[in-house]
Amino acid sequence: MEADLLITDCKLATMIEGGAAYGAIEDGALLIKGGRIVWVGARADLPAHTATNTDKFDGRWVTPGLIDCHTHLVFGGDRSGEFEQRLEGVSYEEIARSGGGIVSSVRATREETEEQLFASALKRLQGLKDTGVTTVEIKSGYGLDLDSELKMLRVARRIGREGGVRARTSYLGLHALPPEHKADRAAYVDKAVDEILPAAHSEGLVDAVDAYCEPIAFSVDEVSRLFDKAKALRLPVKLHADQLSDSDGAALAARYGALSADHIEYSNEAGIAAMAKVGSVGVLLPGAFLMLRETKAPPVDLMRRYGVPMALATDCNPGTSPVASMTATMNLACVQFRLTPEEALTGATRNAARALGMQDDVGTIEEGKLADLAVWDIRRPAELSYWLGAPLLHATYVNGTRRQPDWGAGGADIDFQGR
Ligand code: NIG
Ligand code: FE
Repeated sequence: MEADLLITDCKLATMIEGGAAYGAIEDGALLIKGGRIVWVGARADLPAHTATNTDKFDGRWVTPGLIDCHTHLVFGGDRSGEFEQRLEGVSYEEIARSGGGIVSSVRATREETEEQLFASALKRLQGLKDTGVTTVEIKSGYGLDLDSELKMLRVARRIGREGGVRARTSYLGLHALPPEHKADRAAYVDKAVDEILPAAHSEGLVDAVDAYCEPIAFSVDEVSRLFDKAKALRLPVKLHADQLSDSDGAALAARYGALSADHIEYSNEAGIAAMAKVGSVGVLLPGAFLMLRETKAPPVDLMRRYGVPMALATDCNPGTSPVASMTATMNLACVQFRLTPEEALTGATRNAARALGMQDDVGTIEEGKLADLAVWDIRRPAELSYWLGAPLLHATYVNGTRRQPDWGAGGADIDFQGR
């Protein structure tokens, strides 16, 4: 078998469904050609091959590259002042209704150039990459006018070209009502649906369409208008659903066959059942839950019972989730929502791929998939969820190309063989 690269001397958490825990292969090997995995299995079964290069990992664990399937990575300014207000007891809704919240990030984002937005997003991206992320979803939604939304989406696309990760974009025009439309919300919805989305789509800037369905944001009817347009443009949809209240968001997402419904703390049983029927993923955002001191956990037991795949994401954003670590997110999901470490890793790999419609290409270590991998200085996969903020990454590969090469030193003296 011809290959560009053999990876060996490693344990594989393939995350393939249905077999051993974590889809583990204790003494594994991988052959990569043209950026894709052409063979994976036990080292003992390695077929005859002609790999040009070999990377050996001293018995370290290799997982699929992590996927952060819900971020607002591109934005101007910060909202640490609102953070201080919330610590004083002012609620997120109160801040939003009094002209702060998302709208204050809109003002800051409109003021910044593409170059400035790119530079600050790249810094946050580094936090994700240092925790094994190789694919990131990035939303618009802090522009809320034609030029600023296009600006955000162009920056997101540039991250995919120059950031060393795969990037997927989502148009989040219905995120908040921009200040200039305070008196005529219908006109803004028209503009978001009939003007901004088609323009962004025709520039090739949109992979999916998202909206924020909540009394402080947009109604089921308004979101439906946007989703009808997405359907007409053959774009998949996602939804910020039932984060602060039960707004029947899960059912709305399911009605449109959404890739995912995200947050879903307050979703009801009928909504979860409807999601299961159409295969929508439930994306849990434990960073936002923590930062808002939310107490109502998402209905994890219902999702297990109905078979709704659970994914995890940072929701990296300046208001409710200034979180730039995927492994910390896994920890928070286990501690706050009682996911098992295996569910957490599944949520950061296989199910996250599905939440982006990328399950044919990424999310598991499987023949035919892209060679996006993370190599870790850990003894057991559960360590990825156990540590909070510890550096665990040894290396990543994107498309079969090694990234994060400077990360090897820490732990190089530790013998991981045979543990
Ligand atoms: O995903 N839920 C809505 N939007 C963001 C919050 C954005 C903000 O406050 O800036 C979220 O949590
Ligand atoms: Fe969000």
